[in-house]
Amino acid sequence: MGDLENRVVIVTGGARGIGLGIAEAVAEQGARVVVADILEDEAEESAKKLGNGHLAVKHDVRKAESAKNLVETTLEKFGRIDVLVNNAGVGPNPTPIQDLTEEEYDRVLDINLRGVFLTTRAVVPHLIKQQSGRIINIASIVGQTGFAMIVPYAASKFAVIGVTQCLAHELAPYGITANNVCPGIVETALHSRVVEQFSAMQGQTVEEGWDFFRNRIPLHRFQTPRDLGEMVAFLASDRAKNITGATFNVDGGWEMH
Ligand SMILES: NC(=O)c1ccc[n+]([C@@H]2O[C@H](COP(=O)([O-])OP(=O)(O)OC[C@H]3O[C@@H](n4cnc5c(N)ncnc54)[C@H](O)[C@@H]3O)[C@@H](O)[C@H]2O)c1
Repeated sequence: MGDLENRVVIVTGGARGIGLGIAEAVAEQGARVVVADILEDEAEESAKKLGNGHLAVKHDVRKAESAKNLVETTLEKFGRIDVLVNNAGVGPNPTPIQDLTEEEYDRVLDINLRGVFLTTRAVVPHLIKQQSGRIINIASIVGQTGFAMIVPYAASKFAVIGVTQCLAHELAPYGITANNVCPGIVETALHSRVVEQFSAMQGQTVEEGWDFFRNRIPLHRFQTPRDLGEMVAFLASDRAKNITGATFNVDGGWEMH
């Protein structure tokens, strides 16, 4: 029997990349997964690939109405929600601060930060009713130490870590924990675009761009979506019942605090 037998786990941005790695890891532990993603077809495909008994829901984390629908659809199908993984996110378009537009700033903050607020706000009343639950937010190593030319992205991830700490305090009386997981460098669509843009700005090949990132990692290898999934599966389980407000790096040693 798995650690998460019959627990209902919502994974935003679960259609691909890290979110899919999380969905696979928790499903293997017996969870019933709700793949909640703006990419409807990909979400359906991914939920099917997980096996029987999972659900895909079209969800746009920027919209309060969408969060309400996600909760209602999940409750109709499964009758409960045990874990919310706020994973949906977008990468930055690396830009010097003097050229950064309000549109780019708002685009990133809207999804990466406001999105966490809106989905969490919709789910929490049900966790409070149950007097149990887990909120797991996918932040980033640049939510702890800044990096040139990605102000909106770093701002969103620093803020998510703060939000999680507030939730940990606020929801502890109801038996609800809240923790952060910070991926290092994962070869997903999101990070591939960032590497392409960075290397073009620096007159490097894309391969040299990837090498730049790899060389900064003490373990000298990138992380996989599944690496993140394993940490999330642990935090969602009873084995992590005494952990809240914490931030875990899964990054090959990039950050060490
Ligand atoms: N890849 C990395 O190296 C890396 C590093 C640190 C943190 N992260 C974080 O991990 C998370 C997942 O990123 P990834 O690398 O798997 O990216 P990805 O682009 O592969 O996947 C992101 C998923 O989020 C979904 N999404 C985007 N906007 C959405 C919206 N408005 N509503 C609902 N879903 C939406 C996408 O459709 C996609 O399925 C993000 O929060 C990202 O910031 C990634």
